[in-house]
Formats: sequence, structure tokens, C-alpha cells
Amino acid sequence: MTPPLVSGARPSLQDAASPARPTPDARMSHAGARPALEDAPAPAPAHAQPSFRAQVSRLRRLPTLPRLQQRILTTLDDPEIDFNHLAALIETDQSLSSQVLRLANSAFYSANGQSLAQVSRALLKLGTVVVRSVVVTSSVFDPRQVPLAGFWEHSLGCAVAAGALGKTLALAAPEELVAAGLLHDLGKIVLFKELPEAFEACLATSAAEGISFREAERRLLGVDHGEIADWLVQSWNFPPQLAEPITLHHRPAAAQRARVQVAAVHIADAMVRAIGFGNGGDPGVPAIDDHAWGLLGLDLEKLDQAYLRFDQDLDRALNYAVFA
Ligand SMILES: [Fe+2]
Ligand SMILES: [Fe+2]
Repeated sequence: MTPPLVSGARPSLQDAASPARPTPDARMSHAGARPALEDAPAPAPAHAQPSFRAQVSRLRRLPTLPRLQQRILTTLDDPEIDFNHLAALIETDQSLSSQVLRLANSAFYSANGQSLAQVSRALLKLGTVVVRSVVVTSSVFDPRQVPLAGFWEHSLGCAVAAGALGKTLALAAPEELVAAGLLHDLGKIVLFKELPEAFEACLATSAAEGISFREAERRLLGVDHGEIADWLVQSWNFPPQLAEPITLHHRPAAAQRARVQVAAVHIADAMVRAIGFGNGGDPGVPAIDDHAWGLLGLDLEKLDQAYLRFDQDLDRALNYAVFA
């Protein structure tokens, strides 16, 4: 079975400063090709290392978020949410407040150039799905904390690409796609934070054997980062449009309640890898799933438009540190 990898230099932060536009050939080589391993059932993890597997299973019982973040997520769950109460909670944490304000005022969300100074108004603008992702990334699951060169850029790039696809294809709520893209590899962040040795072993195995980071996870841990994240997003009550892209972006055909969002993040992940921007743990580019491609109604012309928008939005995201 052919691994879904193409050879390529490991991306570096140098790529982040000036991402190269992909050649049409590079894009075409991924469009429409059914992935070899992506849809395959998980292999029996006969050679998974027992110590790592036991450790990984303990991640199910993680005391996950700090108390304030938990309270905010509970408030977000309330169908009759009181935004003033939510704002008051968020305002007790200075960095969280400034992150919410900065995001609401960022070039990506602020279409009319009006600047918002009140957290409560910023919350209304961003919506509960985006706020939920900010709460999670602002605490212990910030992609910037992973000391893998280029990992933050990979997350940011996937977020911007997902938003660019959403806007190009006029999908509903592109800002939610951005949030999902930013968090799509949440399982890797959790793995790094909780089991850094296992994370390192997956990186080493991936590099030594020329397999994807995900395949290395399945070999060593018996699960992949989507499954690891699944345990958490369930306990955090993530809505489907955030949960499914995080847990199923490598298996878009398995999506049930957020098929479009999963397809968009799946393709955004491949887009950002195809141009070598950032580092998702290995230098490979997963083949785009036919079903996801068809579901979004993509063609090469629209993909080209999405890439143009991606370039513009990425420049803004980098220049204005939208998510910083
Ligand atoms: Fe992933
Ligand atoms: Fe990724």
C-alpha cells in the first residue's frame, strides 16, 4: 500500500515568512486522488508499544481545562446564553479578554473597520463557536506551545485556508471554519503536552520510516490524534461544526453532522501542506478525498481562487498577528 506521502523538504519557519504559491501541477497531483491510507481501517496495533498505549489511554481521564475556562464553556452551553454574564467571566482574565478583542478587531473578522472595545460586543460578533475555540486555545491547548518548528504556522495556515475555502465557495459561517482549522490538530497538542516522549517517538518514527505522523501514531500508540482529540471534545461539549473537523479531518467520509466543515478542513490541511507552509509533523501531503472534493463542489479554478485568497489572508494574519 502506498503511503499518502510525497517527498519534499521539511518545511521551516523560513517558509512562513514568504509562502511560495503552489504550482498548478502540485495542486493537481493531489486533487481527486483517493488516499491510500486515509480511508483504510486502522491496522491492528500489534506492534504498538505497550507503555505508550497505556499512557495514551489515561488521556481519557485528563483534568483538561482550568476552572475559569470550564465555567466559560459551561456558560457557552446554555441555550439562553447571557452575553453580559459571559463577558464578565472573560473579563476576569486579561489575556483572554485581549485575545477576544484582538480577534474581533482583526482584519479577518472586521469587515467595516469599526473597532470594538467592549468584550460583550466582541462576543456577539464572533459567535459562540469561535469564542469556544478562543477559550480552548488561550489556555493549555495553544498551538504556539508546541516547540516543533512550524507547528503554529501549520495550524494558522490551515485556519486561513479553511476560511479562504469558505469564502470562495460561499460556505456558511467561514469564521467557524477558521476556528476549526486553527484547532484541527488539537490531538497532537494534547499528545505533546501530556506525553512528550510519545510525541517525540512518533516524530522520530515518521522521519525514519518515511510515513505520516498519523501512521506513526497508529503504530506506536494504537490511536491517532483525531481519536485522542475525540475524547476531549466530547467532554468539552464541542458543537459538531468544531468537533468533527478536529476528530475527522483525516477521515472526511466518516463525518455525519458537519460534513461540509470536515471536508473544508480536510482540504485546507492538504492545501497548506502542499505549499510547504509550516510543519504538521511530517513533510507529506495527504491526498484529497474524492468525496470531500465533490461535496464542496470544488474544481481547479475555484481552488486557484481559494489559494489567491489564502495568500492575501495569510499575509494579513502574519502581518497583523490576527491570532497572536
Ligand atoms: Fe491532522
Ligand atoms: Fe494538520
